[in-house]
Amino acid sequence: MKAATLQARVEELRRLLDDANYRYYVLDDPDTTDADYDKWLRELEALEREHPEFADPNSPTARVGNAPSGKFAEVKHGVPMLSLANAFEDGEVEEFVTRITKETGDAAPAFSVEPKLDGLAISLRYEHGMFVRGATRGDGATGEDVSANLRTIRTVPLRLRGEAPAVLEVRGEVFMPKAAFEKYNAWAREHGEKTLANPRNGAAGSLRQLDPRVTAQRPLAFYAYALGEVDGAKLPATHSNTLAWLRELGFPVSAEVDVATGAEGLLAYYRRIGEKRNALPYDIDGVVYKLDRYDQQRAMGFVSRAPRWAIAHKYPAQEQATTVESIEVNVGRTGAVTPWVLMTPVQVGGVTVTRATLHNADQIARLDVRVGDTIIVRRAGDVIPEVVRVIEDKRPLDAKGHPKFAAYQLPTACPVCGSAVEREEGEVVARCTGGLFCPAQRVQALFHFASRRAMDIEGLGERFITALVEFDMVRSVADLYRLSVDDFVSMKQRADELADTVPETVKSGKVATKWAENLVGAIDASRSTTLERVLYALGIRDVGESTARTLARHFGALDPLLQADEETLRQVPDIGPIVAARIAHFFAESHNREVIAALRANGVRWPEGAPQRSAEGPLAGKTVVLTGGLSSMSRDEAGAKLEALGAKVSGSVSKKTSFVVAGEAAGSKLAKAQELGVEIWDEAKLLSYLADPT
Ligand code: IVH
Repeated sequence: MKAATLQARVEELRRLLDDANYRYYVLDDPDTTDADYDKWLRELEALEREHPEFADPNSPTARVGNAPSGKFAEVKHGVPMLSLANAFEDGEVEEFVTRITKETGDAAPAFSVEPKLDGLAISLRYEHGMFVRGATRGDGATGEDVSANLRTIRTVPLRLRGEAPAVLEVRGEVFMPKAAFEKYNAWAREHGEKTLANPRNGAAGSLRQLDPRVTAQRPLAFYAYALGEVDGAKLPATHSNTLAWLRELGFPVSAEVDVATGAEGLLAYYRRIGEKRNALPYDIDGVVYKLDRYDQQRAMGFVSRAPRWAIAHKYPAQEQATTVESIEVNVGRTGAVTPWVLMTPVQVGGVTVTRATLHNADQIARLDVRVGDTIIVRRAGDVIPEVVRVIEDKRPLDAKGHPKFAAYQLPTACPVCGSAVEREEGEVVARCTGGLFCPAQRVQALFHFASRRAMDIEGLGERFITALVEFDMVRSVADLYRLSVDDFVSMKQRADELADTVPETVKSGKVATKWAENLVGAIDASRSTTLERVLYALGIRDVGESTARTLARHFGALDPLLQADEETLRQVPDIGPIVAARIAHFFAESHNREVIAALRANGVRWPEGAPQRSAEGPLAGKTVVLTGGLSSMSRDEAGAKLEALGAKVSGSVSKKTSFVVAGEAAGSKLAKAQELGVEIWDEAKLLSYLADPT
């Protein structure tokens, strides 16, 4: 391609991408598919890479962030960045309107009414439609040049649309949308990283990152709400029309902006936005009323650093201080033990809060929350209230000046069932080891127990299981074998009544029992099973199908397995020390032994035989892992064939693995095998080996 044609294509791609961004972020009316967007972006990236002469710091490709540049330079604001006076009471808003009415002589002055975004004020400078610099507010007179970080924010336009003035400074707020904040914190908790206290801190911290590539990873957004220096443009006569003009130039403006008159009009807006506050995708801490006409603004003038023509009307804070009365824990369906605080009730954002989550033990350790502590709790929208930080100066002390209460420790026994609570190395979450016995985990455990590859009880889905546990009809998996047709019918009736889904036929007196008979039949059929299915069905952590099979073969029968200690289990080929400990632990819990005894007493049976410890065949002594999909047979079939040749089939790759059979879309196991240098077979190699095993 000729240079001119290339340049035209580069320009075209940039325009297509800018247009797509504009429609998406400003008009909220996208007309491009993600696939097209990605395709254009990749093409543009490739062209820019091959032709550095077309580089442009304002290209849509700049959003990924450039390498760090060291410190932030100072930027003097030609027009100072002001702050706003606050109002908290309706009366203050009335006084504000009265004052303006009097001084302007306008009986009904119009106001631009806007949400007060809770982020960071930013000034963006454009020359001839091109983004040249962006700075923080700083002290209002001098801020910091954070251009590189601002370029990564997708809603900050880099090239303006239409007729742009020679100089245009646009002010607005950079903020972190609530969803991005939650997502970031969930990630941080999982990885043991510091969580963000609130979206505002998230925005501030991200914008002050010295490495723009880090900023690019934290989805920030921008809304415009004011002008700074402008040269070469005839401005509209009102602020509201300026916002409309900014929107045309490509700046996103909050969809909630409006025009209102009279104190009643402003207060109605305050209440309307207040009702929507929780549902907005971003945090706001109030609304802003700005006198709309510029000539009237000039007449009102300024006092100290704030305009007399505008005011911020604040909402109740979403963070409040209170004290910790106790620290409790919840047990989730998967056994996860989640600590939370019971606190002195406090109004946060207009709602009384009594509990806040602490997420996990790491979070507790980081915050060091103790009984008696004064804490800051935060509630944002429908999100569960959280503890943001402890005010350490207010920690209660004993006579010797030591903290009155020790650092909090998670309980070592599950508060629901009494089983041990344990935390795996490298895991953030502590879990109740009660498994089947713990009511909190029962539903999950029953669901697994009944699943196709475990006991294979057809028709026993999560809805019925939840009802059975809720009505206390089933405590352990063994109880399933005592349920009658009548039990199921009455369970369903109760569940339907509670959910208000009683079928018409039942209302008219008919009772359908066929399904219940089928279900009881399916449960009965599952009584006759295999040892490996039972072992898998018990839901011992990390005992998947393949480990269950290994155990079943190695021990041949259940009793020798029940008697095996950790050391014996470790001797089993393919069972590592962690899994050995877990199995020993599971069978050591008397509840689990009782469940097993009850299963047997209720007629669950399986053939038992002699232990098979040393396989024979060409693959004897070899451990094989199957991963990914095979096209000629299922993984189970392939596993059975390899086992018939003496191989041990394992579920996880380790140094001891002899080879890995990797089919279609193999993922982490293949990667691990490559990392450990384990031999890898593809399907063709497997087939040719099976055809002629030597
Ligand atoms: S106007 C001359 N409008 O509030 C007035 N500010 O206390 C300049 N803010 O630093 C500000 N939303 O960070 C204005 N719609 C809005 C706003 C807003 C949030 C923040 C901004 C500013 C602070 C003023």
